[in-house]
Amino acid sequence: MQIFLDTADLDQIKEAARWGILDGATTNPTLVSKENLKFEDLIKKICKIVPGPVSVECVSTKSKDIIKEARGLAKLADNVVVKIPICVEGLKAIKVVSGEGIKVNTTLIFSPNQALLAAKAGARFVSPFVGRLDDISHQGMDLVDEIVTIFNNYGFETEVIVASIRHPLHVLETALMGADIATVPFAVLEKMVKHPLTDIGIENFLKDWSKVKR
Ligand code: E4P
Repeated sequence: MQIFLDTADLDQIKEAARWGILDGATTNPTLVSKENLKFEDLIKKICKIVPGPVSVECVSTKSKDIIKEARGLAKLADNVVVKIPICVEGLKAIKVVSGEGIKVNTTLIFSPNQALLAAKAGARFVSPFVGRLDDISHQGMDLVDEIVTIFNNYGFETEVIVASIRHPLHVLETALMGADIATVPFAVLEKMVKHPLTDIGIENFLKDWSKVKR
């Protein structure tokens, strides 16, 4: 399973890259709005650090404008993946830019049928938002399970990026369901490393090591 970092924070991206576990990154307008750099400079810097796909979101709403914007974003770096929200205008744009070889991550997926349509239009990735579904008392991970089943049923090559992850259990369930990618906030990544028994184990080993005759 691939792990992407869900952030536009350069320090977090550099740190995760040093851990040796970083496969890609996802950004969105909210995440980039928190950073203090000009948008294009920020994306270019992120793309240099990340050893894989970096999703960058289109904000246009008409297909012809989305297409133009997607072409521009794709030129920022070789590893840019263009994020397009699922909607009719988005589908038209996905069809055109995917045909030109631009990789598309269809975002804001909240139903399996949306994922099916995105895959048929040519999207390279779909991003079901599990945390936002949990927030309104739906089972977010059920959506991932259904999308994985549909893609397996028909041999779609579109990869599933589990997004809007809130805690390590979302990542565990992603892995158990066989979804391709989890895009994880840095705070969740830190929690995934930790276990209280590991901390106690290290502490006790260090104590005992200090008693060893050397
Ligand atoms: C992923 O591509 C999205 O940017 C992200 O996971 C959204 O997460 P949120 O629901 O925590 O904003």
